[in-house]
Amino acid sequence: KAAAIVKELEEKCGTPIGKLRQVADAMAVEMHAGLASEGGSKLKMIISFVDNLPTGDEKGLFYALDLGGTNFRVLRVQLGGKDNRVAKQEFEEVSIPPHLMVGTSDALFDFIAAALKKFVDTEGEDSHLSPGRQRELGFTFSFPVKQSSIAAGTLIKWTKGFSIEDAVGQDVVGELTKAMERVGLDMRVAALVNDTIGTLAGGRYDNPDVIAAVILGTGTNAAYVERAHAIPKWHGLLPKSGDMVINMEWGNFRSSHLPLTGIYDQAMDVESLNPGEQIFEKLISGMYLGEILRRVLCRMAEEAAFFGDTIPPKLKIPFILRTPDMSAMHHDTSSDLRVVGSKLKDILEIPNTSLKTRKLIVELCDIISVRGARLSAAGILGILKKLGRDTVREEEKQRSVIALDGGLYEHYTKFREAMESTLKELLGEASDTIVIEHSNDGSGVGAALLAASHSQYLEVED
Ligand code: BG6
Ligand code: GLC
Repeated sequence: KAAAIVKELEEKCGTPIGKLRQVADAMAVEMHAGLASEGGSKLKMIISFVDNLPTGDEKGLFYALDLGGTNFRVLRVQLGGKDNRVAKQEFEEVSIPPHLMVGTSDALFDFIAAALKKFVDTEGEDSHLSPGRQRELGFTFSFPVKQSSIAAGTLIKWTKGFSIEDAVGQDVVGELTKAMERVGLDMRVAALVNDTIGTLAGGRYDNPDVIAAVILGTGTNAAYVERAHAIPKWHGLLPKSGDMVINMEWGNFRSSHLPLTGIYDQAMDVESLNPGEQIFEKLISGMYLGEILRRVLCRMAEEAAFFGDTIPPKLKIPFILRTPDMSAMHHDTSSDLRVVGSKLKDILEIPNTSLKTRKLIVELCDIISVRGARLSAAGILGILKKLGRDTVREEEKQRSVIALDGGLYEHYTKFREAMESTLKELLGEASDTIVIEHSNDGSGVGAALLAASHSQYLEVED
């Protein structure tokens, strides 16, 4: 019976190449629709107001704040221009107390502003802030925000584990600025960006061929450089560069081609903080993979007595199995699958599992993670299709580099490998010109770079 449940899961989670191509095509179609009009698609295709990516000329001392991944980070970056690039970079990582993720806007922003103030207070003599200047900040806020300028935007909705009702619809820069005033910190937010935009900016700074960025972490999302004239809903002036960076919010993509299971995926969605939303994200990202696995194990315990006559009580607790634990089990190379055994014992309090049981669990990890990995590759193919970069054109063998970041990509090797090999498979001979690059924590530096290029002191210097 247990094996039958695994088999059924495998069938329902299947992602043959033909299906992935349908997903990629649907992604490209939705991209067009989202660019055409506000509310035209599940894909928000948010205009970031970033029309110039870093050049290397950026100079000065800038701060950055990165909120929305696993940890919240504050950074201080000394930019030295062409000759000295990122001259110095310091950062501090703070974890957000879980109650603040579901509390009030003031409580969250006060906590952030206080951490930032503490960090600013450690600024040394060697930090070269020009005299008389106000400190400036690039704010990476990794949630869907309707931007009204480079440094203003209202929160559309929360995603991942956050749910703070009174912040929805508010200008997040306003919220942060008020909190900074409350803690007595004099700082101006010069740029408000999504983590995908920060990663794209940081990636471009290191490599001029970067055209898109993808986050595979707690959540998942992508941003890319679009031609401004290909954005019908953009009514502003045509930027000098002709470009506009788009935050796709692809986590909210959905399509009838997605291999969704009713009993696991749909049930998890219904019970989530954001039912009906972020369906693509719920198939792919780190917040959910472990939880899907838990749900499958639960069913196997209930219907196939997979762990014996009783259902292990811990197995009933939502989100108890985290994706890093799933990854550790999936990568277990010991002959007796020792890691799987100890995870089951330590986390779920299930002692003495047989090798057969452990093997089936590794198989489940594989099915669930490979589905997510292959779907994320299909998403990337969708972007390349939209840009006409999915086929080799003899006249221009241009390289397209995609900057990747996020804990899932960084730490879940089998996920990363499946994603990369699927992309190769999908691209065929065009895969020679498409490169995936890890942009390690590039989003913080990226935000500082964008703060620099939107500094209030720029005109004076020109
Ligand atoms: C980090 C980026 O490395 O990855 C962040 O700097 C981003 O901006 C994060 O939000 C996403 O990954 P995770 O796993 O922390 O959600
Ligand atoms: C979620 C957020 C999105 C972010 C992504 C990765 O999908 O809505 O803004 O980029 O997670 O952190």
